[in-house]
Amino acid sequence: MRPSLIGIALGAGLASGTWAAATTFPNPLPIKGPFFFVHDPSLVQRGDGKYFLFTTHDKAGIITATDLHGPWSEVGSILPQNSSIQLPGRDDIWAPDVSFHQGKYYAYYAVSTFGSQNSGIGLAISETMDPGTWVDHGLVFNSTTGDEFNAIDPNLSIDEEGNPLLSFGSFWDDIFQLTLTKDLKTVTSSPVQLSFNSTSPNPEEGAFIWKHDSFFYLFISSGLCCGFVVDDLPPPGNEYKVFVGRSKSAHGPFLDKNGLDMRETGGTLVLGSHGNIYAPGGQVIFTDKKTNRDVFVYHYVPVDSPSPYNDSFSSLGLNGIEWSSGWPILTEL
Ligand SMILES: *[C@@H]1O[C@H](CO)[C@@H](O)[C@H](O)[C@H]1NC(C)=O
Ligand SMILES: *[C@@H]1O[C@H](CO)[C@@H](O)[C@H](O)[C@H]1NC(C)=O
Ligand SMILES: *[C@@H]1O[C@H](CO)[C@@H](O)[C@H](O)[C@H]1NC(C)=O
Ligand SMILES: *[C@@H]1O[C@H](CO)[C@@H](O)[C@H](O)[C@H]1NC(C)=O
Ligand SMILES: *[C@@H]1O[C@H](CO)[C@@H](O)[C@H](O)[C@H]1NC(C)=O
Repeated sequence: MRPSLIGIALGAGLASGTWAAATTFPNPLPIKGPFFFVHDPSLVQRGDGKYFLFTTHDKAGIITATDLHGPWSEVGSILPQNSSIQLPGRDDIWAPDVSFHQGKYYAYYAVSTFGSQNSGIGLAISETMDPGTWVDHGLVFNSTTGDEFNAIDPNLSIDEEGNPLLSFGSFWDDIFQLTLTKDLKTVTSSPVQLSFNSTSPNPEEGAFIWKHDSFFYLFISSGLCCGFVVDDLPPPGNEYKVFVGRSKSAHGPFLDKNGLDMRETGGTLVLGSHGNIYAPGGQVIFTDKKTNRDVFVYHYVPVDSPSPYNDSFSSLGLNGIEWSSGWPILTEL
């Protein structure tokens, strides 16, 4: 059973009302070398040009390369001794979000278990990103059963006045945002909602905010990420896919191409399943210093793999981005 492109297009288009003009997507960069698992990637280039890729599982796995084409090497973990956060899942770190601030690398990460709101966002800091150099600072923010939100999938961004913000969220009421102190370690506000999908099960997560020219762009992953079974796939379009909205402020409101607020199920499609690429998401952007190009980074489940549609084979997707229309359009890299 393989969903047709038309089926996906109708499914996503009807629910969001904002299917992008192009329903074909470019293929990701072919990657050389042996398979390595990536889910919810974060990709950072160090001053010496080396690429550091971080993944869910493997205690927040660290994978490095000197060329985006690979080969990539699994070199270790951010938290080989587990997180100090005393919550279930402290030995299985999710969605590390790494960025460079004030001379150091900050990794926000999530501790949770599948389908639970008993979740925490933690912080680890390193000067080089190499394995063995990360110092765990523990809990930054948490949620418990009955809260409106779920404290996973963190992303740090800096607003138009230079103030740090932490966006997060997954299902429940979807995507929220907090303000942080300048040292990036302490929360100073209650969560404010950024995006919401009114269709049950409110399937939005994996938010991140990226500034380009005069806009802040909020990207989200919407749909089901994992646990696919080849004979029992979700209805076409209900698997992971990437939507975007934009705002003049990092605080929102984020509107899609049709002017619909992302808090009202808005969102313009950036990437969906196509060809061998199923359920793409967990997206981030980084600017490659070698080429001075923005690179769109995500994971996908290969249809054609030793075990089709199996998220144990979740793989790295890399594309270019064309911004000239004011909206991100993916290109080949
Ligand atoms: C909202 O959820 C529905 C059902 O899963 C999905 O079809 C639609 O694409 C989603 N839209 C957004 C913007 O998340
Ligand atoms: C980390 O978690 C694993 C699995 O629960 C456990 O076996 C191991 O002892 C833990 N390590 C430390 C240092 O607590
Ligand atoms: C978080 O957002 C920043 C830009 O504000 C970006 O550099 C970083 O890659 C993002 N990380 C993740 C994991 O979303
Ligand atoms: C999570 O937050 C609640 C308050 O919302 C607090 O009572 C609880 O101790 C926190 N859990 C952890 C592990 O810090
Ligand atoms: C997915 O692949 C893994 C690793 O090969 C295997 O253990 C698991 O049983 C597979 N799951 C399904 C649903 O086929």
